[in-house]
Amino acid sequence: MRKGLVAANWKMNGLSQGNDALLGAILSGLKDPSGLEGGQAEVLICPPAVYLQQVRDKLEGSRIRLGGQNVHSAISGAFTGEISAGMLSDTGCSHVIIGHSERREIFGESDQFIAEKFSAAQAANLIPVLCVGETQAQREAGSTAETVLGQLNMVLGHVGIEAFEQAVVAYEPVWAIGTGLTASPEQAQEVHALIRKTISELDEGVAEQIRIIYGGSVKGTNAATLFAQPDIDGALVGGASLVAEEFIRICASFE
Ligand code: 13P
Repeated sequence: MRKGLVAANWKMNGLSQGNDALLGAILSGLKDPSGLEGGQAEVLICPPAVYLQQVRDKLEGSRIRLGGQNVHSAISGAFTGEISAGMLSDTGCSHVIIGHSERREIFGESDQFIAEKFSAAQAANLIPVLCVGETQAQREAGSTAETVLGQLNMVLGHVGIEAFEQAVVAYEPVWAIGTGLTASPEQAQEVHALIRKTISELDEGVAEQIRIIYGGSVKGTNAATLFAQPDIDGALVGGASLVAEEFIRICASFE
């Protein structure tokens, strides 16, 4: 059985003092009373890069893992403002988010660049959390499957199916991000099943074990019904990950 994964994407939010309080509350909430920290779901926190060390130090001794929100594809060099996979790894990250729709849309990241980032992350022993998802217009035009599979296949074509043995896919419908509109459990399940089927056509074993998590307005109140779907293995949480009680409730929804 696949172990769940609840990942917090803080995006560009938080300052050190608030981070400390938030992490303190999350740590005590997950420890007590059910020992969730080592329980049903693995927990990952992806803070802004400047706070990676702060979060790493605060999480020391816990089983919560640390991730980056972005990475460059190059090993090093003249890329002002960018961060390499090796640097993330060196700072204690186990994962990195790749291809988030905000990076694709606002920063113009191409499928090709995202595929290169995926390779760079794995070369530095990071687990890529590859985000895919359609916009509202694409859903209304009936091209959800084509969009999502197009994004997935671009990376698959670049890195090969073997690379997905150590990867997470996050389905994040763009229209559900930060809008309060969540995909219904059935809508999300349909796309998750499609992603798993596409992977299974290349390798059944990889399809069976890969975690496909959902993102887009996940909250304490809707997490359990999403997680009850057979192909939804967890969540990538934005806004609700900044509120300790919400995030703890989402993690607890695996129990
Ligand atoms: P929200 O949970 O705020 O909708 O954000 C989802 C997301 O983009 C996580 O990566």
